Amino acid sequence: MAIKRSSPNSKSAAQAKKPEGKKVDSFQAESGKRLVSANAESKETERSEVGIRPQSLEEYIGQKELKKILKIAIAAAQGRKESLDHLLLYGPPGLGKTTMSLILASEMGVNCKITSAPALERPRDITGLLVGLKEGDMLFVDEIHRLNRMTEELLYPAMEDYRLDVTIGKGQSSKTRSISLPKFTLIGATTKVGSLSSPLRDRFGLVQRLRFYETDELTTIVLRTAKILNTKITETGAQEIACRSRGTPRIANRLLKRVRDYAQVEKVDTIDVELANIALDVFDVDKKGLDWTDRLVLSTMIEQFNGGPVGLEAIAAATGEDSRTIEEVYEPYLLQIGYLNRTHRGRVATALAYEHLDYEGYQGKLF
Ligand SMILES: Nc1ncnc2c1ncn2[C@@H]1O[C@H](COP(=O)(O)OP(=O)(O)OP(=O)(O)O)[C@@H](O)[C@H]1O
Ligand SMILES: [Mg+2]
Repeated sequence: MAIKRSSPNSKSAAQAKKPEGKKVDSFQAESGKRLVSANAESKETERSEVGIRPQSLEEYIGQKELKKILKIAIAAAQGRKESLDHLLLYGPPGLGKTTMSLILASEMGVNCKITSAPALERPRDITGLLVGLKEGDMLFVDEIHRLNRMTEELLYPAMEDYRLDVTIGKGQSSKTRSISLPKFTLIGATTKVGSLSSPLRDRFGLVQRLRFYETDELTTIVLRTAKILNTKITETGAQEIACRSRGTPRIANRLLKRVRDYAQVEKVDTIDVELANIALDVFDVDKKGLDWTDRLVLSTMIEQFNGGPVGLEAIAAATGEDSRTIEEVYEPYLLQIGYLNRTHRGRVATALAYEHLDYEGYQGKLF
């Protein structure tokens, strides 16, 4: 049986359900969303990202391997006066796929048309975009794993031979015509590379994964964003925000903005480590970037299922969260930091999770 060490900061599963204190309530109601979600929550968030998006490879922090490979590809393509090879970028949300694509277009000095797979519903949506491209242009397709079959099949010859096969007319009198396209670059971005069909994946000359960021890289990102937002922050203050950002620039920027709000309300001029600490505690983002739902999932596993193995559906039922949300939103980061394991018998909370949440009685230790 897992025993909770008594600690003023620790909350049991039952307590974790309700954020305590008036201040927390009002701040959470204000933001109205999960602070540590990496998803671009709304058009509002996307718009607020415009000013802080890095504009050049130099400004783009981290992802050293990716940058090295892309620099070579850019130099080679420019040397040959050709367009860049088709590129597929994949990785969890908020790591900088869209940002990198926009930078590539500006480094290559070409136009970039931006669309996303769900917007390409009818065949004419994609044909319209393709015929409007000029030599060397880039076409950025976000969420490319969500393309429908017909659109995907139109893309095959377009990517391979710069050719568009269109059917004109209906029934017996219909004819297929080929239209030649200018040499363009398709950039696809996806968070689910496994859902891409292999014919589509194979047509990309470059397939690159984005990684979670290190704390020092995120610290640099927070310092850079603070400068753009005209906010004073100390190095250690930035580091504190970086540590709680789940390896993700989008979350780092979002947390910085919330801490800035807090500083403003409290009439503090400079964000230092103490203020960052207090503000992030108020927002209920803990030292590892976990929020109360993350902690609820883990503490439920520990208290009600003895740490697991436990099935996803059982966790969902016990916590009142949707099982898909647990799987897609909460679990990836818990897996990444080693707080949760997936076994063929179900999910297991690890010794690290017990330690973080202040529980004794980790079963694995007994054997
Ligand atoms: N390397 C970086 N350096 C500095 N800031 C970055 C970097 N990468 C991303 N960001 C910041 O993080 C935000 C999110 O990045 P971006 O929109 O490119 O993520 P994404 O991978 O396309 O996410 P999604 O999968 O949700 O589309 C950007 O607004 C940008 O300011
Ligand atoms: Mg994006």
